[in-house]
This record gives sequence, structure tokens and C-alpha cells, in this order.
Amino acid sequence: MKWSGSEAARKITQTTTSRAIQGITIFLVVVGTITIAGDLYFLSNIRKSLKKHHTKTFVSTVSTHDSTSLHNRTVVANLLREAGAMVTDESKLPTLAQIADLYGPRPVILGLEHCEHFRNTVPASERMLGAAGMFSTGTNLVTHLLKRNCYIPERAEKYGLETATKEQLGMRWQVPWGKHTPADYKIKHATEKAQLINKDYILPCVTIRSPWRWMQSMCKNPYTARWPHASICPHLVVNSSQLSRQWNPVTVKYGAGIENYTSLVHLWIEWYDQYARLVLDDEVVENHATSYPVLIIRMEDLIFYTQETVTQICQCTGGVIYAEKPFEYVVESAKKDSPGHDTSVGLTEAWIKYSKPLQPRAGFVQEDYLAGIDALNHDDRFGLMKLLQYHHPPSN
Ligand SMILES: *[C@@H]1O[C@H](CO)[C@@H](O)[C@H](O)[C@H]1NC(C)=O
Ligand SMILES: *[C@@H]1O[C@H](CO)[C@@H](O)[C@H](O)[C@H]1NC(C)=O
Ligand SMILES: *[C@@H]1O[C@H](CO)[C@@H](O)[C@H](O)[C@H]1NC(C)=O
Repeated sequence: MKWSGSEAARKITQTTTSRAIQGITIFLVVVGTITIAGDLYFLSNIRKSLKKHHTKTFVSTVSTHDSTSLHNRTVVANLLREAGAMVTDESKLPTLAQIADLYGPRPVILGLEHCEHFRNTVPASERMLGAAGMFSTGTNLVTHLLKRNCYIPERAEKYGLETATKEQLGMRWQVPWGKHTPADYKIKHATEKAQLINKDYILPCVTIRSPWRWMQSMCKNPYTARWPHASICPHLVVNSSQLSRQWNPVTVKYGAGIENYTSLVHLWIEWYDQYARLVLDDEVVENHATSYPVLIIRMEDLIFYTQETVTQICQCTGGVIYAEKPFEYVVESAKKDSPGHDTSVGLTEAWIKYSKPLQPRAGFVQEDYLAGIDALNHDDRFGLMKLLQYHHPPSN
């Protein structure tokens, strides 16, 4: 079987172009799906909820769901409530149209074209999913969602669906080489607990987030990244003169070692480059000795298009979503059990926070803004901003 990364990239580009036409249709299907999940969440009587499910599917179709719903905050409030979240002030909520404007009308997942290869080469009863991702990109969130909703049926057969641990059902907290550890360490390093795991049997689920919002978050909590930014953040450049621009290097301490990066924005670019090339660089992809399948998942999709995103990840490994219980969202903060992380937010707060358009220059000084755009446009060879449908903040 031939993998073609640039083919995948082209496909995504084409899809983006035609999204104006398909967008609303698909969006409504997604909304329908979320609605159904929400219903299921609340109703213990499955039969009753299935009845409602059919009704909802019908009312969510394009012919009956007029465009005013896309601008109706009550529709969003109902989606959140049906997912189990609390909504106190509807007026603060975004509309579905606003969300689609920022992130597109449906999830963007890179690497789905390699799922078949993964399923063909890894025995079903050995397959695993594990989170990876830079700090503050939703690695905990994706793990919670997968553990609550997805399992590998062959593993369930082997260990018993009721009695098995989530790990035995194929859902791991992180990839064995450490979730924040760069992809290149896969060969070199495994977290102590996971020494015995066959690293080729795990599909990394790599979360990513808009680099601008990610930098804002890193300014609040830098985790183990260190760089001088006492009075100004992200402080990408120490000399912004066009002719002799000097970046402000960042050092990150991983469990497995220390790495240096050109600047904070380059940490995002270079860290994701190592995973992206496993999906997008034809030469790397075709070298089966060193490449391995991964999925790259937008954190924003885990928030806004939760069920569809989780289902696609799950099915990639041949996993299934629990049929006998409703889809479970993470309504509470995904990080409340791990102290020391940055301010975490619940589902409603996340919908409000991530649907706000970026402030001018993302709130950064002009030098950081221009240097950030420059780096993202020129130093990221895969153009992840575009592929993932992220936008730069406005200049003013
Ligand atoms: C908005 O949606 C709610 C819930 O579906 C509906 O009751 C309400 O009439 C809608 N408002 C408008 C202006 O369409
Ligand atoms: C920045 O670079 C320019 C051009 O080389 C130089 O004239 C200037 O002194 C530098 N500024 C700082 C703060 O180093
Ligand atoms: C990273 O930078 C630190 C401090 O500048 C230096 O001591 C270290 O050798 C560098 N590490 C690598 C791998 O380049």
C-alpha cells in the first residue's frame, strides 16, 4: 500500500476550497450528531432516547434546519445542556456560525489516510491509542474522552468489557515515550511504566492548538519551557531589526532530555514538525522502518465537535464507541485532578473562551506579532496554520 502525504495535503486543500459549498450541509449533520449525543446523555431509558434520536435526526437535516439556527444562541445552549454542561448566561455563548467562522464547519484531522495501514499491521487485540501533544493542547482532554467513550472490541473480548481496565481496552494516558516528548524520542525513550509496551502497537493521538492561543497559554504557564520573558511575553525576538533579527531561544526540559528551540513560536513549529512529517512528508512516510502512523487532532475540535472527532479517532484503530451507554463529554475541567496546570475550564467556559476571536496581535507587542507571523508562514514547511484552518490574529 502506498501512503502519500502530499496527496493527503492536497485533499485537505481541495476540501477547504469547496467547504463553502459543503460546509453548511456537513455542519448541520455534525450539529445533529452532537444533539443526539446530548439527548442520550440524559436519558437512562435507551429505547426512549432512540425514539427521540430519530426525531432529532430529522429536524437536523438541511431542509428543516434553517440558517437562523446557526445564529441562534439558544440552539448552542441546548447543545451544551444536553451534553450535561451548565449554562447560566446564554448571551455569552457563541453561535454555531461564529464557531464555523473560526475553525471551519467540521473537524480537521490529519493522518486518517494511514488508519487502514495501522489496522492492517497491528493485531486488533494489541492495538492502543495514546495521547501526545505539546503542553496545554488538550492531551488530558483527549484521553478522558477516549477512555470514557471508546474501546477496542477484540480487547473487550479478551479482557471483558466490564472487568477490563481502560488500558486493557486499548486506551492509554499517553504514548510510551511520554506525551510531551518530541516524536523523535520514540525510538530512544519510553516512560518507565511503559517499557514493556510495543511502541509500534500504539497509535499516537497528537493534539495541537492554534499557535497564537497556545503562546498566550504558555505565557501564563510555561511548564518546563524556559526563556527570558520577564516583562514581555512571548518575547519571540531580542532584536527585531529586519536585517539582523535575533530570536529569543527557548529551552525545554523533557523527561528524556533537554532540547533547545529558536523561539517560543519555533517550539510549536519544530515540535509539531516531527509528528507532521510522519503524515505529510512523502519520503518519511514511505520509509516504513522509521515512520509510524499518527493522528493530528485540533484541540478546538475536541471542544466544539467532540463526538465526531472522538468517533473518528476511535474508529481509526478499529475501536467502537460504547453502544450501551450515552456518549460522555468532559463537562468539568479536564485537569482538576492534576494540580499545577494552568487554569482549566469546563465545557461551557471552553465554548465561550475558544470562540472569542483573537485580540489584535493576539495581545502581543508588534515585534512579537510580526515575528510570529513570519515564522509561522516561512519556517513551518508544512504550513500547518493553513492545513489546520487556523488564522493569524488581526493587526489592529
Ligand atoms: C432559537 O432556538 C430555540 C431553540 O431551538 C427556539 O425555541 C427559538 O425560537 C429560536 N429563536 C429564533 C429567533 O429562531
Ligand atoms: C539590533 O540590530 C541592529 C542591526 O544590527 C543593531 O544596530 C542594534 O543595535 C541591535 N539592537 C540590539 C538591542 O541589540
Ligand atoms: C541548549 O542550550 C543550553 C543553554 O544554552 C546548552 O547548555 C545546551 O548544551 C544546549 N543543548 C543542546 C542539545 O543543544
